[in-house]
Amino acid sequence: RPRVLSGMQPSADSLHLGNYLGALVNWVKSQDQYDAFFFVPDMHAITVPQDPAELRERTRRTAAQYIAGGIDVDQSTLFVQSHVPEHAQLAWVLTCLTGFGEASRMTQFKDKSAKGGVENAGVGLFTYPMLMAADILMYQPHGVPVGDDQRQHVELARTLANRFNHRFGETFRVPEAFIPEEGARIYDLQQPTKKMSKSAESPNGLINVLDDSKTIAKRIKSAVTDTDTVVAYDRENKPGVSNLLDILAVVSGKTVEQLVPEYEGKMYGHLKVDVAEAVVAAVEPVRERTKQLLDDPAELDRLLAIGASKAREVAARTLDEVYRNVGFLQLG
Ligand code: TYM
Repeated sequence: RPRVLSGMQPSADSLHLGNYLGALVNWVKSQDQYDAFFFVPDMHAITVPQDPAELRERTRRTAAQYIAGGIDVDQSTLFVQSHVPEHAQLAWVLTCLTGFGEASRMTQFKDKSAKGGVENAGVGLFTYPMLMAADILMYQPHGVPVGDDQRQHVELARTLANRFNHRFGETFRVPEAFIPEEGARIYDLQQPTKKMSKSAESPNGLINVLDDSKTIAKRIKSAVTDTDTVVAYDRENKPGVSNLLDILAVVSGKTVEQLVPEYEGKMYGHLKVDVAEAVVAAVEPVRERTKQLLDDPAELDRLLAIGASKAREVAARTLDEVYRNVGFLQLG
């Protein structure tokens, strides 16, 4: 079966609606068709300061949310990045193949280092895309299901795979980014031209999967729209309304084109009520199952240990070939 691989950083207590609709929903869909690998990139999380106890807890919580959201651990491989040391080993080789200028052009690095200045940014933040390329190329996937903001990182992984293959002989499959047509960009509810992110300026712009239903409904109902009254899809002039339509499209399984006529002659309030209801109905079971899973951390860790050993089998094979091809001395 063709393969997919993806991950989400354990850098918050809860996934947000962007993570859920932009990524997790598609991961779950991919499982029947693909041999799927989903992992928790804890090594990526330490590119910015982390509290150790919190990181441990969030790593489990993230894994629990994958399962609660529908990742089937019997069918797919679920693991934690730091449990598979080959990621760090391959990352070094790929780092040595990346140009300084090439890495400097990564928009995420530019954004994240802009605040404190490049001088003060961690080098881990700079080499992050090479670690991500290692995560991906290690498993020789056909596709990487991600939201739109990861497009450039997947593109770098493709570039590095081609470069390695060219220089050292055919070693890596060159993967495609699998970006959904709807849900790939969920925006902040208060600032609907900015993508939804855990570092939102106001918590009211953010929907966390683990928030209680009342909070979720309240935030959706107070989403920023515009002074017009017509429900229409227009990213440029009606970003708030368009965002709500996008969200509703993914959770209802309808297209935006199907939804818009349903709101003819209706006010924004109607749309908000429907979005709130649909989102609450979608994430409530995820929240409940996450809580149940977190009640038994030993069982969760057992599942992660199984996943780690399945992942290591594949990782060891790729790394072995890489080491051989770059010219590292093989003993015995
Ligand atoms: P991360 O943890 O920022 O996000 C996890 C996933 O959620 C998607 N996403 C969104 N989708 C739609 N709208 C939004 N507002 C939104 N915000 C986030 C992201 O596109 C992503 O799919 N570098 C990665 C983690 C990573 C990874 C990998 C992913 C590390 N190694 C290998 C794939 C393959 C990241 O920081 O995603």
